[in-house]
Amino acid sequence: IYTARSKLRMNILDESIVQVVAENVKPRDIIAKTVVKMKVEKNDDAFYVMDIGEVVRRFEEWQSLLPRVHPFYAVKCNSHPVILTVLGALGSGFDCASKSEIEDVLNIGVPASRIIYANPCKSKTHLQFAAVKKAGLMTFDDEYELHKIKEVYPDAKLVIRIKADDPSALVNFRIKFGCDVKHARHLLQVAKQLSLNVVGVSFHVGCLCRDATAYATAIGLSRLVFNYAADIGFNFTLLDIGGGYPGDGKKPITIQCIAEQINQALSEHFPDGCGVTVISEPGRYFAWSTCTLCVNVIGKRVKEIDMKSVGEGTLKENTDCMEVSHMYYCNESRYLSFGILLTLQSKIVPILLK
Ligand SMILES: Cc1ncc(COP(=O)(O)O)c(C=O)c1O
Repeated sequence: IYTARSKLRMNILDESIVQVVAENVKPRDIIAKTVVKMKVEKNDDAFYVMDIGEVVRRFEEWQSLLPRVHPFYAVKCNSHPVILTVLGALGSGFDCASKSEIEDVLNIGVPASRIIYANPCKSKTHLQFAAVKKAGLMTFDDEYELHKIKEVYPDAKLVIRIKADDPSALVNFRIKFGCDVKHARHLLQVAKQLSLNVVGVSFHVGCLCRDATAYATAIGLSRLVFNYAADIGFNFTLLDIGGGYPGDGKKPITIQCIAEQINQALSEHFPDGCGVTVISEPGRYFAWSTCTLCVNVIGKRVKEIDMKSVGEGTLKENTDCMEVSHMYYCNESRYLSFGILLTLQSKIVPILLK
């Protein structure tokens, strides 16, 4: 249980409570008990309940469905020390996007060798920090980044990020990140001229991917880039298949269906024993359904709305066009927990706790 307001930075000992409960106890039961306790303490703040067992179950599911793919949890999805510690203990690696995320992972005792700095556009000072901590595995997708890395961390192990998106993914990185495959050869030549060490390829099909075949296509494109790299004199040993996996079982595609596509494409393009390590960067897969946000209704407004002003199609014939609307105000905002949901334009459906 941890406070929602301090989600971004928190001290586990001060602000979180870990409870060991029987297997049949549901997060809902914990929430109900916590609410009663908080009432006594006169505290009505929003809070989260994280089901650690669900994190473990998801890790086990991942290993059984994708035995060749080592997960590197995307810390940006939820950097709470409990989730990091549990995944670290299970053997997960970590995808970090900044200095503070690298710090969070090192602070739980995971070695820098289990980190990929998977932000293709890094700030110089964060790169310097990575160099000091020897977090040397990192992505790039343009020439400017190569020159920056040459200046700050020339011994880094680089991974070229290619564009390989599912256009129907809810968050698409098409414009923002990844080089075109046809530009990859040139970038690799520049890296060679700069005597940089490029070791593999990465891609991200987009968050909440809705087309499982996007992974197979991207793995096929990665094979092409491995071939270019061999022509230029690099010996690639790493394939990073990124994130995009569903956070619960309700989305249009399941992890089972994605795993099928990935396993098939891997055996075609990177068969077992080919000397290539395969990693991934799942974020929502581990963080989404393991956490439940609990908010309080702190205000209510009953309003008559003139449906004429709402827009065409809502007008009913021969009625006075006024409807009563109920607005409920809760104590959590779009600047914290609801930010990403509003970006995705997802509908938030609350569950009422009696
Ligand atoms: C580089 C990178 N890797 C992994 C992730 C996690 O993605 P997902 O939550 O879709 O698995 C993200 C999310 O933005 C990302 O930018």
